[in-house]
Amino acid sequence: MHKVIFDTDPGVDDAMALLFLHNHPEIDLIGITTVFGNAAIETTTRNALFLKREWGIAAPVARGEGKTYNPMRNPIDWPVMIHGHDGLGNIDVPDTIDLPLDPRPAHRFIIETVRANPGEVTLIAVGRMSNLAYALKEDPGIAGLVKQVIIMGGAFDVPGNITPAAEANIHGDPEAADAVMTAPWKVVVVGLDVTMKTVMTRKRLADLTERNGRHLKLLSGISQFYIDFYGQHVEDEGMVVHDSCACIYLVAPELFTTRPGAIRVVAGGIADGQTIQKPDARKFPPGNWDDLPSQHACIGIDAEKVMALLGETLAR
Ligand code: BDR
Ligand code: CA
Repeated sequence: MHKVIFDTDPGVDDAMALLFLHNHPEIDLIGITTVFGNAAIETTTRNALFLKREWGIAAPVARGEGKTYNPMRNPIDWPVMIHGHDGLGNIDVPDTIDLPLDPRPAHRFIIETVRANPGEVTLIAVGRMSNLAYALKEDPGIAGLVKQVIIMGGAFDVPGNITPAAEANIHGDPEAADAVMTAPWKVVVVGLDVTMKTVMTRKRLADLTERNGRHLKLLSGISQFYIDFYGQHVEDEGMVVHDSCACIYLVAPELFTTRPGAIRVVAGGIADGQTIQKPDARKFPPGNWDDLPSQHACIGIDAEKVMALLGETLAR
């Protein structure tokens, strides 16, 4: 069983990833921590509670701080044209959900849960890296106790999606992402190099919903607005399933090709939020990537098998 804390900003593709984690038989979802990104922290936290209630998820929800690691950063507008005003595709999520939050802030929930389960917890982070960076800052010792960190974010050999240089999750809190990439724990980065190849078509989602409507009806409703947006950017009418890719890596790493090497994140200037890896196989004069842990950037994916596993698991 893989013990997982899911750090998320729901978010339409986040919702799909959450259902994957909930449904997969080898995954024990032990916590959901919320971060701002696709919407404000109040909205993403409300959405996490809503999905927990609708899908009967047992894991507690702990709310993130809702601010960037570097307090001097200017706030960025929420991507309402992609995820809707409610962060879940404008389905009119109720304003409040009658479920309690975990009393701890997200970063402390992460610290205490990792310390209670040394060597066993995988952190899957699919929003900004703020909570992970706050957790490392408060208790750097957790780096040696986490099993692995799997991130959806970044773009290495392809353009970004929020600027030509940067992917949205990293661009939203670059200093946090740099702290996470350079900490002494295993980080696998599942970025746009691979996620842009994974498309759930409107038709496939409808077919899956027909097979097992119980949970998929809600997911399908949430996803229509996002598909309308992504429909203009991908060949088939469908949605890119960014966040699910990070979850699938956990149970099927053999479907991905990774490249080892230290990873840094640019903070400031026109390349703000760019992820840059120094592949271990390349030699350079001394520089900013030296003496840092070798992390794992995903550069290849068997998209067909990833989509098959995703569909099968969502329809369980
Ligand atoms: C990432 O940004 C968010 O919009 C998505 O939920 C995903 O985590 C893709 O760049
Ligand atoms: Ca996300």
